[in-house]
Amino acid sequence: MDGKKTVFSAIKPTGTPTIGNYLGALRGWQTMQDEYRCIYSVADLHSTTIYIAPAELRKNTLELLSLLLAVGIDPEKSVLFVQSHVPAHAELTWLLNCNTQFGEARRMTQFKDKSAKHPDNVNVGLFDYPVLMAADILLYQADCVPVGKDQMQHLELARTIAERFNNKYSPTFVVPEGIMPATGAKICSLSDPSAKMSKSDDNENGYILMTDDADTIRRKFKRAVTDSGSEIRAGADKPGITNLLTIYAAFCGITLGKAEADCAGMGYAEFKMRVADAVIAGLAPVQKRFAEYMNNKDYLESVMRNGAETAARMAVRTLEKVYRKMGFVRLQHNRG
Ligand code: TRP
Repeated sequence: MDGKKTVFSAIKPTGTPTIGNYLGALRGWQTMQDEYRCIYSVADLHSTTIYIAPAELRKNTLELLSLLLAVGIDPEKSVLFVQSHVPAHAELTWLLNCNTQFGEARRMTQFKDKSAKHPDNVNVGLFDYPVLMAADILLYQADCVPVGKDQMQHLELARTIAERFNNKYSPTFVVPEGIMPATGAKICSLSDPSAKMSKSDDNENGYILMTDDADTIRRKFKRAVTDSGSEIRAGADKPGITNLLTIYAAFCGITLGKAEADCAGMGYAEFKMRVADAVIAGLAPVQKRFAEYMNNKDYLESVMRNGAETAARMAVRTLEKVYRKMGFVRLQHNRG
């Protein structure tokens, strides 16, 4: 093959991504496309472990696909597909379930956190989520998985499952490494700079959605929490200003030091509007392309179809190996 390493990553269609998702993950996905063979998925099967209204799931899936295209995920370069269009994900999950210990899955902190948060719906899917995630990654023999801190424990479990299977049967899976995209930046809530920016924040002033319009963006930055003192500089004693400087630097493509220099001497109000304007300008071309893709359902359909075909072809190869190694009788002219 071309000697490039394979990257797999996925994002759940649970709502519009924030600029935190953009700067921390999606922009990195875009830049990795030249160096790696990239496979990116809209993880719709993962989105139903917490109840989501059917109409919302449908809408979110097409929006997220459009947004991935809008940030520059190029379906000619990368494999871009919707997870539920490739049945191998659900099939491998079952086979891996039988190679995952209950105790291992029970230790996952996200399972514990989410079951505490939704005590009325602690479903088996929520428990099994990390095994589905392992199947996503292992099906494509991914070398590298760009993930944030919150998914590291799940990636560790995927590695454990892969190693166990390889030892129990015979070498089958590439054991994936977690990587942080070079351009990754951690963005905090505008209303509480000690917390990560999240679209599930109860306070909508805490996050900027990638589809927020200019007025909304200005309004939210106007309300952003700052720190005592009046200096514009980064530092542990200035979490609010540091977060705003980080956002500004990331959107302008400059270092934090350069951002500090650019904004030194401004008052807080003026500084906030400078940051807002940089975000508005940075998102404008993405939002324009997003609207175009959303209006072109035929194109979206063709991207989904081609992506699913390519992904399924790759995935079935691994899946067939797993079935055979475990002793399942396969039909002679089967898919793989
Ligand atoms: N669980 C991931 C998240 O919540 C999304 C995801 C699903 C994923 N499958 C994956 C990420 C495989 C990396 C690799 O962010």
